[in-house]
Order: sequence, then structure tokens, then C-alpha cells
Amino acid sequence: MGKVAVTTAVVGAAAACAVAALVVRHRMRSSGRCARAAALLKELEERCATPLGKLRQVADAMMVEMHAGLASEGGSKLKMLISYVDKLPNGDETGLFYALDLGGTNFRVLRVQLGGKEQHVVKKEPKEVSIPPHLMVGGSDELFDFIASALAEFVASEGEDFHIPVGRQRELGFTFSFPVRQTSIASGTLIKWTKGFNIESTVNDTIGTLAGARYYDNDVIVGVILGTGTNAAYVERANAIPKWHGLLPKSGEMVINMEWGNFRSSHLPMTDYDQALDTESLNPGEQIFEKLISGMYLGEILRKVLLRLANEAALFGDSVPPKLETPFILRTPVMSAMHHDNSPDLKVVGTKLKELLGIPNTSLKTRKVVVQACDIIAKRGARLAAAGIVGILKKIGRDSAAKDGGDTPRTVVAIDGGLYEHYNIFSECLRSTVKEMLGEEASASVVIKLANDGSSIGAALLAASHSQYLDVEES
Ligand code: BGC
Repeated sequence: MGKVAVTTAVVGAAAACAVAALVVRHRMRSSGRCARAAALLKELEERCATPLGKLRQVADAMMVEMHAGLASEGGSKLKMLISYVDKLPNGDETGLFYALDLGGTNFRVLRVQLGGKEQHVVKKEPKEVSIPPHLMVGGSDELFDFIASALAEFVASEGEDFHIPVGRQRELGFTFSFPVRQTSIASGTLIKWTKGFNIESTVNDTIGTLAGARYYDNDVIVGVILGTGTNAAYVERANAIPKWHGLLPKSGEMVINMEWGNFRSSHLPMTDYDQALDTESLNPGEQIFEKLISGMYLGEILRKVLLRLANEAALFGDSVPPKLETPFILRTPVMSAMHHDNSPDLKVVGTKLKELLGIPNTSLKTRKVVVQACDIIAKRGARLAAAGIVGILKKIGRDSAAKDGGDTPRTVVAIDGGLYEHYNIFSECLRSTVKEMLGEEASASVVIKLANDGSSIGAALLAASHSQYLDVEES
């Protein structure tokens, strides 16, 4: 009995001391926490830094890899796939064309009636079909059977506003947003599924973007996708492709699907967060550039940073919010909404943290830390994407103004994808970084523009510019 009483008394005294100590410690801890959070952010900032010198190294590395990928099959991490697209649309195309766009959890079918230079797209009719999840991880036959019957149904519903000349078959362009090694304009082999598709089993979306934008503007020579995934395609001189052994196309040009998402270089600023994200991903060691810059991953990098801040600097209080431990819970659109929060008390940040992660009552200081983390991660991505674009411009000699005082040709880079379209801080940073890298004079003739929804209509336009009936008409 006595023993118990003594123990209780000791515990009681200890508790009283603990309360007093807690108050003192709380004050010390909260300043200690702030210091720790600041140190972690500083470290993140340093590891993610992209000063001009580094960006130039990235651009040069991109250019070197482009050369290597064009020289031989498998010569580089950059596949530099030959697309067999040697004629981009120029606006003169007329007739009825179809497109099919498979790139994510939905696919789209589309028909367009083209009216030539004066009228451009006379009428277009799209339809979206969602892919049942079991088909995304099953056999390719089932997936393509499903797509074929949805397409057949769509063709059968063609209204009277669309006209196909007598005796002609309907022609279709296929936007397929995965890396394909093509064997002709209309055939190819899938290299691997990306972005969560896992299936054992022909125009790429980036080429669609390039074609869709070129239809309205003849100076477009680079197409970039910055969405869930990322990629770039551009117009290369056919005789600058040593691995091309076929006849040189009449146009002398060939569109190359770079698959730049798979670019990697020792110059890329990689952090422990990126390493962990890569190791835990479906495709470790692959798509490293994509994992630093695209919409699928930016939010996840942020989650990892916040989790460490919660663990090591008690950013959200004494315990770590359990939801923050769920991979991919923080999507890039949420990150973007927090990053763009202009309210004095960062209300949006507070609401998102509460609603999405179950973290109530965050202080302004905490919210500011979150915004700073968004800023570091998004700007690193945007600046690296800009360096990639400058690498392409260097490769094709469009990175400087004409030397002899002659006219510098106008160069247009068309960009599509939700990340670029909706994450304004990201897109502004990308554009200003391209300018910073090229300098005032050269950047005056480089235009970077949003090519909204080029990718599906682009396929229909390519069906038009490669129509089997064109040769008949020309001869
Ligand atoms: C794919 C590319 C595609 C890009 C944009 C990447 O994950 O590998 O083929 O062009 O996403 O959708």
C-alpha cells in the first residue's frame, strides 16, 4: 500500500514539474520548430536551385542527348522517335476527317469538317468515352475492342452537316499518348505504358499539339505537353537523323517525338524527396524529367516535403496528420490553388489543409511555409521545362538572333496540357525563364503560346495532310 502511495506522490510531483516545464518548453519548442522548419525549407531551396548556369547545363545536356538519340536506336535515354509525319497541315486542307485520342482515363472521338484557308474548321463534333478501369490494366485486345466499337457507334451517328465525297473512305488520325516506335505513318509498336496504364500489348499527343497549332500558324516548330505527363516534339531536318535509313521525305523534314519525359542528367537538381518518389513509383529509374516537372508529380513532391516538415519540425502540431501520409493525396491542382492564394490570411491554404488533410486551425506562419514550399517546387519544374525548350531551340539553331543583321525567323513553341494552362505561376515562370536564357534579342522572335486542345484535332489534321487521296489529286 505504502509503496503505491509513495509512487503516486512522486508521479504527482513529477506531473506538476512537467506542466511547468511544458510551458517553458512550449515557448522554446515553438521557436525551435520555426527554426527547424526554416532550415528544412532553406535546404529544399538550395537543393532545388536552378541558377542560370545550371539551366544552361541542362539545356546543353538535352541537346547532346537529342543528337545521341537521333544517331542510333537506343543511343540515349531520349528515344527521339521518328514519327513518319513529314507533312504538317498548312490550313489548306478540306474534307471530313476523324480523330481518336487515347491518353488518360477517357478517350475522345472527334469528327471535323475542314473548309480550307478561308473557313478552317467548319464544324466539329467531339464525344468523350470513359474507359472502364479493368480495361486499363487488362489485355490490349479487350481495350482496343472496346475503343473500336465506341468508334463504330460514333461514326454511325454522323449527321448530315458532315460530308464525305462519294467513293471515299473516312480517314482517321489516332492520338496515342504513350511512347510508340513507329514503323510507318499508320503503324507502330508501343514501347511502354506510362501514367498509371499497365497493359501488356500511333500519332502521339505531342505531335497532335504540334500539328494542331501549325494548322493556324506556319511558324510553329515545337510542340510541348505539360499536363499529367510531359513530352516534346519538333520538326527536324530529315538529313540530320543518322538513324533514318529510309528515303528522304519530299518535304526534307520529319517530326520527332522526343519522349523527353525520360530525359535525365547529372545536372538535374534532384532531392531526397525526388529519389524517394522515383523509388516508390510504378516505373523507378524512368521518366526522371517527367517526375520533376509534370502535373502527376508536383503535388506529390509537395506532400513529401510537408510530411517531413510535420515529422521533423512539427509544422502541423505535435502529431503528424495521418492523411498527409497517403501517397498522391495532394494533387497538383490543389497545390496550384494554394500557391495562387492572394488573401492576406492565406484563407485558401487554410481551407485546403483542413478539407483535404484534416488539419484545422493553421497559423499564418504555417500557411506561409506551405506556400513557400509550393513556390520552390513549381518554379524548379517550370525552369527545368524552360531549359528543355531552350535545348531544343539550340539543337535546331533557333536560340539566337540572325548575326549579319538579317531577319531572324519567327519561332513558335506551342504548349498544351492542364499544368501549363491552369497553373499560372508555373507558365509565367516558364516563359520568363526562356527569355532569361535566350536574352532580349533572341527571345524577341520566339513565341510561346498555349495550344489549347490541339492534340485531338491535330490527329484529324494529320489524317488530312497525309490523306491517301492527296497523291491522287496532285497527280
Ligand atoms: C508519355 C508521352 C506523352 C506525355 C504527355 C508521357 O508520360 O510517355 O508519350 O506524350 O506523357 O501526355
